[in-house]
Amino acid sequence: MTDRRRTTFDGEEWTQIARTVDVSERQGFRVEIDIEHDLALFRVQGTVRAVTNVCPHKRIACLYDGIVDNGTITCPMHAWRFDLATGDNVNGGGGLRVYAVREVEGGVWVRSNDID
Ligand code: FES
Repeated sequence: MTDRRRTTFDGEEWTQIARTVDVSERQGFRVEIDIEHDLALFRVQGTVRAVTNVCPHKRIACLYDGIVDNGTITCPMHAWRFDLATGDNVNGGGGLRVYAVREVEGGVWVRSNDID
């Protein structure tokens, strides 16, 4: 984590985890920070969403490679589907951890406390 940019926004420390240009509307972008923090980033109608990359069904780190549709991500393994804004499983059951994210200065940032 020492090589990632950090700054303070609104009194909280944030860490840059990607560049704005890394996250497109067409496909997910994986950011493996460490063994506990494997994130999948998606752009939904211009807004970046950050969720855990690990599907709660079989604990497989694959959601970045899923299908994005109408603000949801469908797991490529067995098609569990999650709301990217809330992390909720749209069919019930385990949901995803959602990370607060902001885009500033050409970067995608998450709260440092959420990934440390
Ligand atoms: S591992 Fe994601 S639905 Fe089974």
